[in-house]
Amino acid sequence: MVGGGIIGLAIAWRAAGRGLAVTVCERGGLPSYLAAAHVAAGMLAPVAEADAQERALLAFGLDSAARWGTFAAELEADSGLDVGFRDCGTLVVARDRDEAEHVDREIRLREQLGVPVARLLPSAARRLEPALAPAIRAAFHAPGDHAVDPRAVCEALLVACERRGVTLRAGCEVRSVGPAGATLATGEHLPAGRVVIAAGAWAARIGGLPCLRVRPVKGQLLRLAARAGEGPLLDHVVRWDGGYLVPRQDGRIVLGATMEDRGYDTTVTALGVYELLRDAGELVPGVLELDLEAAIAGLRPATPDNAPLLGAWEGVVLACGHHRNGVLLTPVTADRIVSLLVGEAHGINPAFAPDRFASVHV
Ligand code: GLY
Repeated sequence: MVGGGIIGLAIAWRAAGRGLAVTVCERGGLPSYLAAAHVAAGMLAPVAEADAQERALLAFGLDSAARWGTFAAELEADSGLDVGFRDCGTLVVARDRDEAEHVDREIRLREQLGVPVARLLPSAARRLEPALAPAIRAAFHAPGDHAVDPRAVCEALLVACERRGVTLRAGCEVRSVGPAGATLATGEHLPAGRVVIAAGAWAARIGGLPCLRVRPVKGQLLRLAARAGEGPLLDHVVRWDGGYLVPRQDGRIVLGATMEDRGYDTTVTALGVYELLRDAGELVPGVLELDLEAAIAGLRPATPDNAPLLGAWEGVVLACGHHRNGVLLTPVTADRIVSLLVGEAHGINPAFAPDRFASVHV
């Protein structure tokens, strides 16, 4: 396994559960501080994030969302750790007339896609979530969307992998791969029956592979915490055009996220922090009273059509390019890739075939 982020560890855990001998190579630490999941907010929100152009992705996201409850329960049982799975629903809100029109279009789109949501008057949205500003203009509620704490999931996956005998190698950079195994940056060769690439935004830098159309898309986020003695500010995930607030069980809140094409740069900028706080503060003013614990940036692994690369190609197995949906798509990705590895019918949608961009010249 190349990559010790949430996708790589989940596949390793499930594969070891099916009796496969697995080694995970992660260039950073374990859990990986380089992985997108280290920064991710952890929304499991296929309905709130549905896009008319991405129907295969919506179906895949709904499939994965339905698996998350069992996945979380099994992982907690295997690791003994809480993964912060929350049955909280998402509120999508608008603060002006343009955004209210956008919310109307989004409600109609979900009706057409067969995933209807509940339109709410602003007063009803504020009854559900009293921290919302009185000035919000429109809202809808997606009650089936959930959330999880991605760092807690990765910690639990590490423990669960160890308990199932997975070999975990941190600081282990893979230079190139092929059907017979992986060669490390140190020159060491690791023989393997199958190599799985779950290296996120770094997948395109691994030698021996065809040109992978995966690029990093930077996201800046803030980690906020309630003052001592104060209760949680939010019960629901709150989203708007351009951002979101995701509450954790302990009262902390993650505020995200920018979308920036800046290569492998992960610096946090004053503009990024300003825009996040400005927008969140207009919708949920209490956010500005919270303690700022950290400002961080991560790299989403994006593909040209925003869908992942899943399946066998040129002698290796790809499980990367999950862009904004890596945490949501973890259970279904792990199940389908493990089915492929053990030779069962895997049912991976051809829309996610890793070679689908091979004839597209850039
Ligand atoms: N899925 C949320 C994000 O990528 O910002």
